[in-house]
Amino acid sequence: MELPDSTLAAMKRLARDAATRAHAPYSAFPVGAAVLGESGTIHVGANVENASYGLSMCAERSAIFRAVAEGERRIRAVCLYTPTPAAFTPCGGCRQVIHEFGPDALILCCCDAENAERRYALSELLPEAFRLAK
Ligand code: THU
Repeated sequence: MELPDSTLAAMKRLARDAATRAHAPYSAFPVGAAVLGESGTIHVGANVENASYGLSMCAERSAIFRAVAEGERRIRAVCLYTPTPAAFTPCGGCRQVIHEFGPDALILCCCDAENAERRYALSELLPEAFRLAK
């Protein structure tokens, strides 16, 4: 289903804003994410790194786990903001986690250049996703 431009604009603004609250002292790469749940609520997240690097968490998963803890069970869209001149796509692990709750999710990727936005269906970024029959 098509999402209104106003919703996508709000997601971009919230993802960019969330990146300002990232904890990224090791990579110096602050990332923000905004997740639109089936309730219509937008949940935000940022990457949170750790001195034991492997314990760090991506912005998208931070936002998704938060959304799920708030009661969401379906994700309609994920917006990723990276502090780059070109838009980046979510890492492989985050694609799989998005799939768990939003196999048909829209992935909106934005960055510091206003006209560099890219949009994907998750299935384009993660074809043949791993799934267990239910
Ligand atoms: N990162 C994200 O938050 N999302 C991604 O999809 C890829 C990478 C974070 C992890 C780490 O804190 C920093 O970016 C550099 O890899």
